[in-house]
Amino acid sequence: MPSLQTLKGLDLPAVGFGTYKLNGASGVNTINSALNVGYRLIDTAFNYENEGAVGEAVRRSSIPREQIIISSKLPGRHHHYDEALTTIQESLYRAGLDYYDLYLIHWPNPKENLYVEAWQALITAQKLGLVREIGVSNFLPEHIDRLITETGVIPAVNQIELHPYFSELQLREYDQQKHIITLAWSPLGRASSVLKDPIIAGIAAEVQRSISQVILRWEFQLGVLPIPKSNHTARQIENLNLFDFELSEAQMQTITNLDRPNGRLQNQDPAEYEEF
Ligand SMILES: NC(=O)c1ccc[n+]([C@@H]2O[C@H](COP(=O)([O-])OP(=O)(O)OC[C@H]3O[C@@H](n4cnc5c(N)ncnc54)[C@H](OP(=O)(O)O)[C@@H]3O)[C@@H](O)[C@H]2O)c1
Repeated sequence: MPSLQTLKGLDLPAVGFGTYKLNGASGVNTINSALNVGYRLIDTAFNYENEGAVGEAVRRSSIPREQIIISSKLPGRHHHYDEALTTIQESLYRAGLDYYDLYLIHWPNPKENLYVEAWQALITAQKLGLVREIGVSNFLPEHIDRLITETGVIPAVNQIELHPYFSELQLREYDQQKHIITLAWSPLGRASSVLKDPIIAGIAAEVQRSISQVILRWEFQLGVLPIPKSNHTARQIENLNLFDFELSEAQMQTITNLDRPNGRLQNQDPAEYEEF
């Protein structure tokens, strides 16, 4: 699988696996299946309450730990420096891991105005070897600018909502200019109407692929790293098979033109929305 490299040189596989709602024993089996079919980047979060399932799936697989990128996220209720550091340690204990490859601030929660403090804790966690790379999720340029101005440390990644109805041109351009890798959450629009879009269906017929594959390939060709989730092994495989076909510039542009100003799945504008 192709990879994307962070500014500090960590290679991230071009497609990752999302784990929201994959919990308990069935979650372990699903995540284990994803590892078996070839996923090497697993996305979790303290708030998903499944870091344990992720750690268990990794231990049950025959894949060496160092070949897997595991990413988790700091919840909004623990942005204070000391709490953030303790939470990262708890994240590791929950997963039974010695380190995370990536650790992100889940949401900026700008009204709380503590995300710079949280970022300082992530910087310390990296120095302590608890995490290899640090990044953010749902951050707007104004939030990232503050992190850089106040700490001098640029996030390795920014994980944001991104799918054909919400393609985030400006944020993608900002991330690219700062050498921040953009990860797409809900890259398939969480199986909403986008998976039935007639225009994408037309392109899928042209390239003889599924709509999901066309969407994920579009994200890959934008330079974005999607993290689709699926409970089904066949779909997990389908979502990885993106590297033996290509979308033309015209097909790319047609999908990008599907962008809608209010294309978010829910009303989660990071300038306003907060999650704890
Ligand atoms: N940072 C954040 O704030 C944030 C927010 C949301 C999500 N995330 C992360 O992003 C990950 C992915 O997002 P998501 O889970 O919201 O949505 P998603 O990956 O866009 O879509 C998942 C849905 O699509 C279906 N699906 C997957 N592959 C398919 C295929 N090939 N054909 C047809 N349907 C398919 C799945 O059904 P089945 O499972 O039944 O196959 C599931 O209902 C999450 O799991 C989580 O790790 C992060």
